[in-house]
Amino acid sequence: MASKPVIFVVGYGPGISDGVAEHFGAKGFKVGISARTESKLAAAAKKLSSQGIDVATAVIDVAENDSVVQGLGKLESELGAPNVLVCNVGSNGPPGTDLGPKPLEEITPEIFEKHWRISGLGALHVARWAVDHLKPLDGKRTLLFTGGGLAKDPRPNHAGLASSKAAMRNLSRVYYEVHKPNGLHVGLVTVRGFVTPESEKHSPKLIAELYWKLYEEKEPESWTWEIDY
Ligand SMILES: NC(=O)c1ccc[n+]([C@@H]2O[C@H](COP(=O)([O-])OP(=O)(O)OC[C@H]3O[C@@H](n4cnc5c(N)ncnc54)[C@H](OP(=O)(O)O)[C@@H]3O)[C@@H](O)[C@H]2O)c1
Repeated sequence: MASKPVIFVVGYGPGISDGVAEHFGAKGFKVGISARTESKLAAAAKKLSSQGIDVATAVIDVAENDSVVQGLGKLESELGAPNVLVCNVGSNGPPGTDLGPKPLEEITPEIFEKHWRISGLGALHVARWAVDHLKPLDGKRTLLFTGGGLAKDPRPNHAGLASSKAAMRNLSRVYYEVHKPNGLHVGLVTVRGFVTPESEKHSPKLIAELYWKLYEEKEPESWTWEIDY
């Protein structure tokens, strides 16, 4: 019997990433989820398992390369090498916190660097691991990023987040170009709206279908780099 395909989601929470985990899980994938908060991952694993999904968890902070290597290594040893990897992290924080929205004059070098370490450098940490560890399925390997509309249309109160998401977008394009000849499909879902379960366009459920669409593009001639949504 063929073994089940495997997806890892880096930057798991109740939003887009949960939609992706449920969608791929329902299609028969084993799902590895990771974030910085262990208790949240344990609760999510319980929920996904109750839907019949094989799941493993790892605590990862993408800002630290060692954490990425160790955490993804743990998922790989428990579920096998991934066929699909989604780098979903974003450095957005709630209002009133360092990473929350604030006027440009309040963006200190320290705050800017925090954003960049997550959405920019973090994306590189994950991509480097993915290139070495992703395993082909139906002739291709798949690395997908979650982007944001701010990367293309920055706004004054999101200077740190916008520029770090622009770095992620830029990096994903270079990975797409360089690795297409190697059978690695790198894609980006640029989300341009506030994500809520009730949204008629930007619900995690509907957005998750875009990741599936990219995954299903089998022939390199049909590969899309970015879906702007
Ligand atoms: N929500 C929106 O309205 C919206 C709009 C446009 C774009 N986006 C983008 O969509 C993506 C997902 O957003 P979402 O709100 O739906 O979130 P989500 O998928 O519910 O969860 C994302 C998770 O990433 C984890 N994370 C944050 N920093 C991390 C780090 N340094 N290392 C590892 N994990 C980290 C957080 O968990 P821990 O805190 O436990 O680590 C968080 O729960 C983000 O890239 C965001 O920029 C969101």
